[in-house]
Amino acid sequence: MTRPRVVVTGRIPEPGLDLLREVGDVWAWTSDEVIPTEIRDEQLASAEYAVTLLTDRVDQAFLDAAPALRMVANVAVGYNNIDVPACRARGVTVTNTPGVLTDATADLAMALVLMVTRRLGEGERLIRSETPWQWGMFMMLGTGLQGRRLGIVGMGAIGVALADRARAFGMEIAYHNRSAVAPEVAERLGAIRLDLDELLATSDVVSLNCPYSEATHHLIDADALGKMREDAFLVNTARGPIVDEAALAVALRDGVIAGAALDVFEREPAVEQGLLGLDNAVLVPHLGSATIETRTAMATLAARNVVAVIGGNDPITPV
Ligand code: DGY
Repeated sequence: MTRPRVVVTGRIPEPGLDLLREVGDVWAWTSDEVIPTEIRDEQLASAEYAVTLLTDRVDQAFLDAAPALRMVANVAVGYNNIDVPACRARGVTVTNTPGVLTDATADLAMALVLMVTRRLGEGERLIRSETPWQWGMFMMLGTGLQGRRLGIVGMGAIGVALADRARAFGMEIAYHNRSAVAPEVAERLGAIRLDLDELLATSDVVSLNCPYSEATHHLIDADALGKMREDAFLVNTARGPIVDEAALAVALRDGVIAGAALDVFEREPAVEQGLLGLDNAVLVPHLGSATIETRTAMATLAARNVVAVIGGNDPITPV
């Protein structure tokens, strides 16, 4: 019996490939570079199942190249790289990887809160530049977190996990979300729900943890930044285009806000030039889920989705 053809368009951890090989005829791109379109399309021509990364644009061109496609399993919780309505119109099932990267991403968000409020990137650069320095009472003073308000925009699983971490650092939690969190979660966190303007105006640190969509495109623009306090910080571990990066560079340069820490960028992997020279900007290359354990769990969850569908079952985590 012929096995279904599975095309994996990016390099993923072996345990994910092993699961796929049990059920399908697997072709996988094995380089860390983004797969060239000609090679991708050549492989998609006979693909029934595609396992994709967030660097793949699953758009009309992708779907046109894959006439037999039945499913796209994205190895990411975010799926703004996928034209979901176009997939639906062609009967292509889409899955993502929620849950397994919650802790890693919340850890990274908390690390960025600490980095930007305690000026750790700046300190690192000082040492590495071999600039002479000496301990000083007033040297590189940061901002303490105890009693400060963390305003979380998007209170899904990652937002809640970040709030739990921030509570351990003595922060108070406010959030902005379409729906209220469960009462027991709000009680555990002592969290209050605010509209966006109030959250921006009253938070010491604003963390973006919402999905990217048309509705959240440039949610944080010059106007929103202007509503934040001059001594406040912005952290983005969600998706780059939620922030107007050019407006952010201006706001950081002009002291509209005190600092920002970004794991994601508007035109990734490009970074707004204006941010590069700013000491109050912490910039890291989309590392939210980048632990060995988490990336392995993401790959195996994507593969388990494919295995489920090939076996005639419902996908585990459909979009
Ligand atoms: C995701 O899964 O959406 C993350 O951005 C990957 O790190």
